[in-house]
Amino acid sequence: MKSTTDFLKMKEAGEKIVMLTAYDYPQAKLAEAAGVDMILVGDSLGMVVLGYDSTVPVTTYDMIHHTKAVKRGAKDTFIVTDLPFMTYHISKEEALRSAGNIMQESGAHAVKVEGGGEVIETIRVLTNAGVPVVGHLGLTPQTAGVLGGYKVQAKTATAAAALIEDAKKCEEAGAFALVLECIPHQLGREVASQINIPVIGIGAGADTDGQVLVFHDVVTFGVDRVPKFVKKFADIDHEASRGIKEYIREVKTGTFPEKQHTFEMKQEELAFLYG
Ligand code: KIV
Ligand code: NA
Repeated sequence: MKSTTDFLKMKEAGEKIVMLTAYDYPQAKLAEAAGVDMILVGDSLGMVVLGYDSTVPVTTYDMIHHTKAVKRGAKDTFIVTDLPFMTYHISKEEALRSAGNIMQESGAHAVKVEGGGEVIETIRVLTNAGVPVVGHLGLTPQTAGVLGGYKVQAKTATAAAALIEDAKKCEEAGAFALVLECIPHQLGREVASQINIPVIGIGAGADTDGQVLVFHDVVTFGVDRVPKFVKKFADIDHEASRGIKEYIREVKTGTFPEKQHTFEMKQEELAFLYG
């Protein structure tokens, strides 16, 4: 299993880091077997798995429940779990308890927190307590309500300069990696060059140290619409829908089940049926 130092070495060597989300046992097995470098149990699970319209309703219990399933499917992959909405803002004590619960009960190797400002001090407190932390700047979905929706962030020189400062502070506070979401590619490149920890982009261009995408977006699995930064690498919906329709058709027409799918009773035991 790769460690936080391995991710740092990958950045130094110019080797791209591939992170993918996973939320359950089969997804984790697929991600690990395919060879992703890191799995994120994202609170995006609220949207892509549980059908909420934002990540706000996701609880610590949800994150623990899903991370445990991911752990069982990917025993040999570094797992980062999101701290959910409002579980690390009220106080540093609450942030410690939230991260402590998630790591102890689920087995996550690290946690991810969204935002700059006061959250950066929380990164420091968590790191000092032994919790490896990933920062997350740019579009931060937990605060989408305040940002005015899911929009490209830091498009002006002033906002870009502020983001670069926050990125540096995240590194200084002890974050071992930083996710940058939905920002201009020029800024993704600039941040990656100005800090020493790996920058994992999602909609942040090709010049970050790695990429992260949501499992369901990558394989087209139950998502209604996807952001511009998503590429469709497979189409599970299409294949699953084809299979389910075929199952219905074969049952209705009596084509399924066939002899090979059925169990047989020995001839001599059948007498009771036929008298
Ligand atoms: O929850 C999530 O999937 C994320 C990624 C989009 C970075 O935070
Ligand atoms: Na998230």
